[in-house]
Amino acid sequence: MSIVNSLSPRAIQAPESGIVEVVNYARGRDGLLPLWVGEGDLPTPDFVNQAAMTALSAGETFYTYQRGIPELRQALSDYYARHFGINLPVEHFFVTGSGMQAIQIAVQAMTSPGDELVYLTPAWPNIAAALEIAGARSVGVQLDFEGGKWAVDLDRIAAAITPKTKALFINTPSNPTGWTATREDLASILGLARKHGLWIMADEIYARYYFPGDRAASFLDVMEAGDKVMFVNSFSKNWSMTGWRVGWIVAPPETGQVLENLIQYSTSGVAQFMQRGAVAALNEGDAFVQANIDKARRSRDILCDALIATNRVQTLKPDGALYAFLKIDGVTDSRKAAIDIVDKTGVGLAPGTAFGPGGELFLRACFLRDPAQIQTAADRLCDYILKL
Ligand SMILES: Cc1ncc(COP(=O)(O)O)c(C=O)c1O
Repeated sequence: MSIVNSLSPRAIQAPESGIVEVVNYARGRDGLLPLWVGEGDLPTPDFVNQAAMTALSAGETFYTYQRGIPELRQALSDYYARHFGINLPVEHFFVTGSGMQAIQIAVQAMTSPGDELVYLTPAWPNIAAALEIAGARSVGVQLDFEGGKWAVDLDRIAAAITPKTKALFINTPSNPTGWTATREDLASILGLARKHGLWIMADEIYARYYFPGDRAASFLDVMEAGDKVMFVNSFSKNWSMTGWRVGWIVAPPETGQVLENLIQYSTSGVAQFMQRGAVAALNEGDAFVQANIDKARRSRDILCDALIATNRVQTLKPDGALYAFLKIDGVTDSRKAAIDIVDKTGVGLAPGTAFGPGGELFLRACFLRDPAQIQTAADRLCDYILKL
């Protein structure tokens, strides 16, 4: 038996990320416009960095609270009061080492090996992979795509629920499609979960990136105390902190000891000086987040208007999240197309094959960048598309 084959089958079978594969192919090329991963072009703002550096210099380098420092849990509670109009005491909040780790902890908390979790596809690939590594099974339910718009079919979700189903994973606004659930969608999904005794894992990390209004509808708007909803979230996108790897969970306080234990036996908590940066992001970062949202809206318009005008791309402007998900006439293999596009135009896109059933023919472009750069990317892509 080879060394690799002696590892756990679950670990060996975890797929290489189809996004990272293309990034690795062309990373670091001159003049590259990297729209392939979900991050903006700005580094973390200085007021956040300073708070972390001050804490580091002051010797905040010891083990810390598993659930997060009290100041950060309070800042999260205040953030929800400001932006979601809801009063959630600090006992609801748990600080994690990224949104991705929030998902891992939620998966561990909700599922046992052999259990099923229903999620909507096309989807960010990490949810299914995290689940399979934990020994549970991901059951994809496709969103409908018509006239450039994505929509959920609730009967299809209901039909996917079996006695083994433990949870529904709902990412709204969605990466990569931009599909954004209405309040009514969320109420119906919650109704399904209540009827079948399921958990909802709510990934609303793009809730503030909602272009028709202030924020997207949230399960917080429709749920009641006692509902089994666990939110996974992240500092990555709002505050330009992708490299920090800090996120959080919002969960019923009754789950507190279980979540604390899962954190203890994974990271044992997020570095305290980084949590100080996160406190500054929440308490002083409203203007920065708003500037990011405004930039995303302008850049979305530039990219989508230009691509739609070619008459060779099926897409509408997404209502939410940070991505244009493009079906280009003539593209039959999005992995090959992503490689060809980066070779010929220097624009890095993520292939739709990475996002599971329903996404195969699409390419994803992240538009959280300076509008001038997005204009250049749009010009190069339109040129390429019109020559196809
Ligand atoms: C839908 C969704 N959930 C969670 C995450 C995780 O974010 P992070 O691990 O950077 O905090 C991402 C990142 O792209 C995402 O798109």
